[in-house]
Amino acid sequence: AIDPQFHENRDQVDEHEGHSVWGPVDEPEELGIHGTHVAVDFDLCIADGACLEDCPVDVFEWVETPGHPESEEKADPANEAQCIDCMLCVDVCPVDAIDVDAG
Ligand code: SF4
Ligand code: F3S
Ligand code: ZN
Repeated sequence: AIDPQFHENRDQVDEHEGHSVWGPVDEPEELGIHGTHVAVDFDLCIADGACLEDCPVDVFEWVETPGHPESEEKADPANEAQCIDCMLCVDVCPVDAIDVDAG
């Protein structure tokens, strides 16, 4: 499962479409965590798609990740600022790749 303390245990190494990327990153096999309020561990995501289907405010968008061992696309928290903290995505992800800081 995604480390809920990732913002303490990892370094912000990049930005992508306006959100942070938390390393380590070593493309294409290691992609890190995308997002902060809505964080998706790209190295765990298997492209199940439940988060895209269930998010009521369309926070997620697919991004292509060719060459990654788990899946060749990932759910990117492209619109994390729209999140209403419903926690549905956290509940439905089969590999617990998503952390939402509803603090
Ligand atoms: Fe969407 Fe709810 Fe997940 Fe926020 S917590 S990203 S609103 S499904
Ligand atoms: Fe990936 Fe989990 Fe969504 S596997 S596509 S983050 S439901
Ligand atoms: Zn991203």
